Amino acid sequence: MRTVRFPAPSKEYDVVIGNGAVSVLGTEAKKLCPGALKALIVTETNVAPLYLDRVKNELEGAGIEVTDYVFEAGEKSKGIETIAAMWNRMAEAGFTRTDFVVGLGGGVTTDMAGFAAATFLRGISVIQIPTSLLAMVDASIGGKTGIDIAKGKNQVGAFWQPSIVIEDISFLKTLPDEVFTEGMGEVVKHAFIVDPELLEKLERANGSIREDEALLEDIVAMNVSDKASVVKEDENDNGRRQILNYGHTIGHVIERDSGYTKPHGICVAKGMGIMIDACVRAGFLDAGTAERMKDLMKLYKLPVSDDITPEAIVAGAMNDKKKRGGSISVILVNKPGQAEIKKMSPEELLRFLSK
Ligand code: GLY
Repeated sequence: MRTVRFPAPSKEYDVVIGNGAVSVLGTEAKKLCPGALKALIVTETNVAPLYLDRVKNELEGAGIEVTDYVFEAGEKSKGIETIAAMWNRMAEAGFTRTDFVVGLGGGVTTDMAGFAAATFLRGISVIQIPTSLLAMVDASIGGKTGIDIAKGKNQVGAFWQPSIVIEDISFLKTLPDEVFTEGMGEVVKHAFIVDPELLEKLERANGSIREDEALLEDIVAMNVSDKASVVKEDENDNGRRQILNYGHTIGHVIERDSGYTKPHGICVAKGMGIMIDACVRAGFLDAGTAERMKDLMKLYKLPVSDDITPEAIVAGAMNDKKKRGGSISVILVNKPGQAEIKKMSPEELLRFLSK
């Protein structure tokens, strides 16, 4: 078990990573949420039967009264009605500003638990306990919280940092293979944009990291540090943090056009693959490096292309949060560890993506 410090400018916190990490929950909650009498555990229908009792016991053992809210698993639940139900649950249970929320689940859960905490009584504490690889390496850390609206994913939300993130590697054992693979989309993204050492480690592991718990813990910790190194410079996504959106401008369009039936990490992988090809065509990335990047994605069973048209990408990107004023922030990688933010007009993006 190890702890990585996450130095977000508005709030520094620990990310505890390891097999059995959830056992620190009770003590840490007492320490970090002084005066707390109640906690709301937010989780979903796939995770509740596996881990809700375990988490509840940890909190009750520390003398905290626990209420839970279990929503229907899936991106379709990530809307304002689910958040309103959480607010009401807390109000009915008599929560005060010293009480707190626990997000137990994947990215949909940690995003919503964070948003409910950010908004209830103008902000109460949240403890994140991610159970998917994607949530451990990305969604639960860094303070982005929110919900989807008809016009797009994560269009409403708040920056709200957790008090602690507890990443119990043993929880990954029950993750379906395709959900684990989805998380690899964000792992590979970090390797491409900031961490050539991680890229080499993933290459050496030759596609099998799931079975080796120590290696998995190492890889999760490297990802947490990678994200911390970016967020500490730009918490509110006005500058460098945008590199974490590599593959996302295209990925979000593919995801939304599928009615959120295609998994986020898979759509991001497709977006990265399309960007790699476009960067080679534009002379920004050499063909050998591009092949190395795509080989790594294939090694971890990630797709590297999609049949979406450049026109559809540009039309979709115009509705995305990554659009600022008239331009779209596009993330380019010209060598592992070197990402660049380039502002493009819709016309420039169309030219850049067209074969
Ligand atoms: N997932 C991208 C970010 O946290 O900025």
